[in-house]
Amino acid sequence: MKLILTGFMGSGKSSVSKELGKILQLPILEMDEIILQKTKSTDMNEVFAKGGELLLRETEIEIAREYADVKDIVISTGGGVVMNKIILDYLMKGSGKVFFLNASFETIVSRLMNNHDRPLFKSITEAQSLFCLRHPLYLKYADHVIDTDKKTVRKIAEEIVLSLCKEKDG
Ligand code: S3P
Repeated sequence: MKLILTGFMGSGKSSVSKELGKILQLPILEMDEIILQKTKSTDMNEVFAKGGELLLRETEIEIAREYADVKDIVISTGGGVVMNKIILDYLMKGSGKVFFLNASFETIVSRLMNNHDRPLFKSITEAQSLFCLRHPLYLKYADHVIDTDKKTVRKIAEEIVLSLCKEKDG
């Protein structure tokens, strides 16, 4: 089983993928972590300082290609993967299912207000236009949309498991 979690920065992909990994006994790929390893950086600001957004996107494509054939895994993507369809094409290869964690912009702002490791979330206005630009893409590439506002990580993970069961039975 291959699950791909998408969503804007701060939508809960990392926490939910850890919970799903525990429930389903699957390994987790945290794409942002591998980007740091591959670019020998300690945080995203350093990745941007070294090679700008281009370095980030190229590294994302490389990782997606490397994991295209991995079958049993939960993949926590970076919020920008929908900007490069090739990344999702690689990740969805085989039977990958995409779950979009849909959080409102207000929820995201409240989560990321004091976070300083999101180079693309430095200004609320810019982040909001990015959010508007990407939202239709998250919807377009999703097999399932999970509304996450006011839900616990556990509840979100359980909803995902439930949709998987329904899909299997139906
Ligand atoms: C980005 C999202 C980040 C990280 C990078 C760029 C984006 O990941 O990949 O800062 O373009 O939305 P998270 O979605 O895990 O915050």
